[in-house]
Parts: sequence; C-alpha cells; structure tokens
Amino acid sequence: MISGENILVTGGAGYIGSHLVDALVEKNRVTVLDNLSTGKISNIQHNLKRKGFHFIKGNVEDAETLRKAAMGCSIIVHEAAVVGVKHYVKDPLKVLLVNSLGMENVLEVARKTDAKVVFASTSEVYGKSETLPLRENGDRLLGSTSIDRWCYSTSKAFDEHLCFGYYKKYSLPVVILRYFNSYGPRADGSEYGGVIPIFINRVLRNKAPQVHGDGKQTRCFTYISDTVAGTMLSLEKKGAVGEIINIGTNVETPIVELAGRIIDLSGEKMKPEFITHEKFYGKSYEDIRRRVPDISKAKKLLGWEPRVDFEDGLRRTIAWYKKVIR
Ligand SMILES: NC(=O)c1ccc[n+]([C@@H]2O[C@H](COP(=O)([O-])OP(=O)(O)OC[C@H]3O[C@@H](n4cnc5c(N)ncnc54)[C@H](O)[C@@H]3O)[C@@H](O)[C@H]2O)c1
Repeated sequence: MISGENILVTGGAGYIGSHLVDALVEKNRVTVLDNLSTGKISNIQHNLKRKGFHFIKGNVEDAETLRKAAMGCSIIVHEAAVVGVKHYVKDPLKVLLVNSLGMENVLEVARKTDAKVVFASTSEVYGKSETLPLRENGDRLLGSTSIDRWCYSTSKAFDEHLCFGYYKKYSLPVVILRYFNSYGPRADGSEYGGVIPIFINRVLRNKAPQVHGDGKQTRCFTYISDTVAGTMLSLEKKGAVGEIINIGTNVETPIVELAGRIIDLSGEKMKPEFITHEKFYGKSYEDIRRRVPDISKAKKLLGWEPRVDFEDGLRRTIAWYKKVIR
C-alpha cells in the first residue's frame, strides 16, 4: 500500500473521494479540495482533526486555489466533477465547463510540480456502444449533441484526451480509471444520485422504487471497497501509467431485478413502479441498454479484481442507509 506521500484528492468530500481518503490517510498526508456542491462535510468529519489531513473548500476551476492545494503533493487524484444524470440534463454547460476546466488545471499544476495524476473517468465514455464487453481500446458510440445526456460522456472523454496530451507532450505520468456504477455507504440518495441509493432511499421511506422504461436495461454494480482498492493500486503500479483501466464488476443486473432485490433485502413488501425515462429526465435523455466491462486489463496491470459479492454489498449499503434515515 502506498505510504509516506503527500496526496491531493479533488472531490475528496464526495462519495468515492471520501472513501478513498479514508484508505489513504492511514499512511499518507492528504489534502482534500472540494466545493461541497454534492460532497458533504459529514463524509470527512471524522478526519478533520487528524494530523496529516487538510481540507480546503474551493473550486477546481480556480487555478490559483488548485495551485495552493497541490503544493508539495506528489500525487493528485482527480475525483471532483459534476456527476449525476439529472445534472447532465439540467445544466449541461456546468458539466462541460467544470469537468474540462478542472481537468486542465489539475494537469497544468501537476506538470509544474512533477506530480502523478490519477483521473476518475467513467464507463459513460463508452456511450451506447453495443460491442460487449467494453474494452478500454474499443470504440465509443454517442448520440446527437442535441441530447444533453451525452455532455458528461463528452466532457470525460475530452478529459481523457487532455491526460494523454500531457502524457505525450510533457511525459506527465497519468492513469485513467473508468469506474462502472459504484455503490455503497455515503452515495447520494437524492434524485441526482445513482440508481442503488435512490432505490434504497425510497424503499426505506416506504415509497416504491421507480423503474425507468421497461427495467430490462442492465448495469454492472461495483461495491465501494472494490472501487477504492482499484484506485489505490493504480497509484503505485508502474504499469498503469499512460493507460485507461476499467474498474467494475462484470455481473449484469437488470434494473427491475435490482428493485426487487432491494425491496426484499430491506424486508419491505411492495412492487416497483414503472415510469418513462422522459417523465424523470425530460426530453434530453437517451438510455443505454447494457454496460458490461472487460476487466482483464485491471487484473493484468493492477492485480485487481472485485471481491464483494453483490448481495453482500447491497446488504451493507442498506444497513448504512437504515442508520442514517431511521
Ligand atoms: N459513482 C460512480 O458510480 C461513478 C462512476 C463513474 C465515474 N465516477 C466519477 O468518480 C468521481 C467521484 O464521483 P462520486 O460518485 O463520488 O460523486 P460525488 O458527487 O459524490 O463526488 C464529486 C465531488 O466533487 C465535488 N465537486 C464538484 N464540483 C466541484 C468543483 N467545481 N470544485 C471542487 N469540487 C467539486 C463535489 O462536491 C463532490 O464532493 C467523479 O469524477 C465521477 O465522474 C463515479
């Protein structure tokens, strides 16, 4: 495990970022830069008084703030971004600007300070590609730019290109991780969050989970400790530099089945509701039917594979939500 380093985690008060910080802070000095737009102080509260932990409230688009936060750091993990499908359709301009300007600032400061950059990219980059399983060197397939939903995918793909630009021009060490649907404690259960926390949040409040469309669309869900383990390994494995790596499970779950499992595991008795995508997201949305990663590269380069069984991960997540909701 990486130790003795000064590490900046942008977005470190968010869901994935805060869990990563918990793993890093054991043996490293960690600075978090976060504007608390979707992140929460409660996610990092337990670290605030810890020696070697430092929190800065600020924006990644602000180059001067980032410069100060990154001072003396040998590694920058860039987790800050505007995330959540509802954001993509509500304010695409914000998604595009924060995600691209933040990335450029991170790379520019890393170039000047000789820091390594690990970038939190996403399976959304593949768009609606039907060439499954999705391989890191595979083609991307996106809809029209008139559909706002694709702005996030585009912003993250642009960020990946920026990373490669800096890698090639300045030999800046960069690692690009494409996370696939991570879930676990602290994930945002509001309508801006991911499907698992949204479903759990509704079920525990005695409201039926709302399945969009026919519910046969699938996703591969990754428990947070696996997402963090993959990220931790990417910080130190030399073979990861200059590479894109999928971090996800390859177990597909249809969304309607997910709703049923969450209801059962929560000990509730109800049936999911079905609503159209349009009703939830408006017209500027298009769904992706299946998303399955090829994870052989992560196994080869990082020695990583997911360990947490889906049912076990769901149980742990539901237990956490029960504590905070009830
Ligand atoms: N959760 C997933 O399943 C998933 C999947 C693929 C990729 N990702 C990527 O992983 C990263 C972390 O996502 P998450 O799920 O933890 O979401 P999150 O919203 O919990 O975390 C993002 C963090 O960035 C912060 N932030 C947003 N804009 C900022 C800005 N302008 N300046 C500073 N901080 C800012 C937020 O306050 C938040 O703490 C993101 O880059 C996201 O794109 C997540």
